[in-house]
Amino acid sequence: MLPVIILAAIAGVRSAFTLSAGDAKATVYTNCLVDGTAAITLDDGPYKWIKNVSDTCTNSGANCTFFVNGYNWDCIYDTAQQDGLKYAYGKGHQIASHTWSHPDLTTLNQTAMEAEMDKVDLALQRILGVTPSCLRPPYGNYNDDVRMVAASRNKSLILWDFDSGDSTGSTPQQSEDMYDQAKASETGTLLALNHETSNTTVFEVLPYAIKVLQAYGYVLVTVAQCLGIEPYTSITEPGKPNVSWHC
Ligand SMILES: *[C@@H]1O[C@H](CO)[C@@H](O)[C@H](O)[C@H]1NC(C)=O
Ligand SMILES: *[C@@H]1O[C@H](CO)[C@@H](O)[C@H](O)[C@H]1NC(C)=O
Ligand SMILES: *[C@@H]1O[C@H](CO)[C@@H](O)[C@H](O)[C@H]1NC(C)=O
Ligand SMILES: *[C@@H]1O[C@H](CO)[C@@H](O)[C@H](O)[C@H]1NC(C)=O
Ligand SMILES: *[C@@H]1O[C@H](CO)[C@@H](O)[C@H](O)[C@H]1NC(C)=O
Ligand SMILES: *[C@@H]1O[C@H](CO)[C@@H](O)[C@H](O)[C@H]1NC(C)=O
Ligand SMILES: [Zn+2]
Repeated sequence: MLPVIILAAIAGVRSAFTLSAGDAKATVYTNCLVDGTAAITLDDGPYKWIKNVSDTCTNSGANCTFFVNGYNWDCIYDTAQQDGLKYAYGKGHQIASHTWSHPDLTTLNQTAMEAEMDKVDLALQRILGVTPSCLRPPYGNYNDDVRMVAASRNKSLILWDFDSGDSTGSTPQQSEDMYDQAKASETGTLLALNHETSNTTVFEVLPYAIKVLQAYGYVLVTVAQCLGIEPYTSITEPGKPNVSWHC
């Protein structure tokens, strides 16, 4: 019986897809393309330290990138999170999408996958007036369906070529050692994964990483700048909060 049940389950998921194999697939970037650049990225916010991160980047002359969720550690519509996003965006850091609720997108049907992208876009259109061009799939997991849904929204998928290990148990010392070793990257660029929800990342590793990478000669730019692409697919006026702005 089991194979039949599995086949039926797979068929059920597939029937929800209106996309077909010939549709456009989003570009997947795993590394920076502009020589001599490094992009420091911070996932899973907005969270209570986003202004601290923004300040650390700004005060070092670094442009950073935030891959934000709608409702993961915090709700994007909380006043503090809206403020934090406006603050970081206003300082020239890039705001990108990391999906609404941080699921493994490859496990979702098309409708759910679209909602995961669209709800974050709506929130960022309301709060900042922008639609992000960059999407980081949670856990780095994607397949052709994810790429097609992203492409239909003019988004690129952004992975990384360096993981600070801050979501998988590395100590701050280990993360710093990894930055020391990674700086001499063969590609001459670095696309670094970090999490703004880790206090040791925010207050210890990030300042260290910025110092080490700049001393080595990298220019610290946003993901869009290190790829030579636009950060947003649209820029308009932000909205005014009302009762429909909730998680
Ligand atoms: C898609 O997945 C969601 C969440 O699991 C489910 O509620 C919905 O019924 C599914 N839609 C289709 C068309 O299968
Ligand atoms: C973090 O930023 C807040 C202001 O947003 C500030 O009050 C606080 O002192 C900062 N924390 C550290 C450890 O720098
Ligand atoms: C940061 O981005 C701004 C544009 O938003 C740009 O003018 C500046 O040169 C960038 N900083 C670096 C270090 O490239
Ligand atoms: C995607 O980009 C194309 C070409 O710039 C544009 O015509 C289309 O409206 C865009 N679609 C979305 C969903 O942004
Ligand atoms: C960071 O987390 C540790 C352990 O939970 C805690 O002891 C420390 O006070 C925290 N630091 C900040 C700045 O929140
Ligand atoms: C809330 O604001 C949005 C625009 O941000 C608007 O489209 C919507 O109609 C408003 N809803 C209510 C209930 O006022
Ligand atoms: Zn994440």
